[in-house]
Amino acid sequence: MKSDFNFDRAVERRGTNSVKWDMRDDDVIPMWVADMDFESPREVRDAIVERARHGVYGYTIESAGLLKAVGDWVGRRHNWTIEQEWIAFTPGVMPGIRGLLQVLTRPGDKVILQSPVYPPFFSVIRDSGCHVLNNQLKYEHSRYTMDFVDLEEKAKEPRTKALILCSPHNPVGRVWTRDELTMLGNICLEHGVVMISDEIHSDLVYKEYKHIPLASICDEFRENSITCMAPSKTFNLAGLKTACLVIPDSEVRREFRSLILPKQATIFGGIAAEAAYTWGGKWLDALLDYLQGNRQFLTGYLKENIPQIEGVEAEGTYLVWLDCRKLGMDNEGLERFMLDKARLWVNQGYSFGSGGDGFIRMNIGCPRSILEKALMRLHGAIYNL
Ligand SMILES: Cc1ncc(COP(=O)(O)O)c(C=O)c1O
Repeated sequence: MKSDFNFDRAVERRGTNSVKWDMRDDDVIPMWVADMDFESPREVRDAIVERARHGVYGYTIESAGLLKAVGDWVGRRHNWTIEQEWIAFTPGVMPGIRGLLQVLTRPGDKVILQSPVYPPFFSVIRDSGCHVLNNQLKYEHSRYTMDFVDLEEKAKEPRTKALILCSPHNPVGRVWTRDELTMLGNICLEHGVVMISDEIHSDLVYKEYKHIPLASICDEFRENSITCMAPSKTFNLAGLKTACLVIPDSEVRREFRSLILPKQATIFGGIAAEAAYTWGGKWLDALLDYLQGNRQFLTGYLKENIPQIEGVEAEGTYLVWLDCRKLGMDNEGLERFMLDKARLWVNQGYSFGSGGDGFIRMNIGCPRSILEKALMRLHGAIYNL
């Protein structure tokens, strides 16, 4: 059956002040920063246009409709019941995590993360005056897993106060299983480590896998965690700067609310989020089919034409993590090769912390024609080596 949504259509993004497309003015194909090249769902665009027509754009509050839409979405898609009073909106997940660390830690405390991981996690911990404890993921038989022995050692350290979990994981693409999350949650509970679960990619999970909100596993995990969510990756709304934190613990919530400045909500972010969570389900299902197709296309292309590069199976997210170590280049060489020879702008593995050397992260949230062009360029560049 033909989809009602046309993800093949390439929308011109150059000249729109796009971070991804307008930071270079050459023919390099941008496949780096995590936004997609697709239009958001029609209902979202219509809702924004209608509100724009009003013409007055003063300070705004979050609507009751938005709170309900968030709760309904999480219930429908992730089988998790949340209370509206637990929800706090922020102008992004990262500003939310920054505020949480202010509540949960004091300078000199330690915070665990699991590299290779989204680079701003490192800086947000350091900017809070805390030390990073890296519980590096294990990579064996082309699959990433958590190192629970090391995690327990780190959680035990006296000043370890929090852990930032990336679930699903950017960049390695893992969708953590219930068992893995339970092991992690139990270790954190036992040692009094609060879990900040960044679930910004939770709606972008491929058919064979299932996202489980960490906080939905049991009451103890719920009370010992804060979940970060946003419509930004799911519906391509990152420029509208709207995310929400689910903070079930009333004390943490009270302190967090006293920290964030009032009047931070954005009119268009709120309007778009409400429309997306209310009407966007079908669009998202079609998007996931399309991304699944992109993922298959990429895997097949690499196997057939570029066996030197191994794609790590993405269980979720539109970011794929590619093992380029067989090319035998150092970090600088790989970076130059991708830009100068393949003419592709991808994220370099080393920027995700230890375990990232020799890998790249490629964003496949684009029309297949762009992906195909990129892979052909990569193939040609490798052929000419
Ligand atoms: C895991 C993760 N967290 C947070 C963000 C950024 O979120 P925001 O723009 O809402 O701060 C990203 C963006 O790529 C991400 O991948």
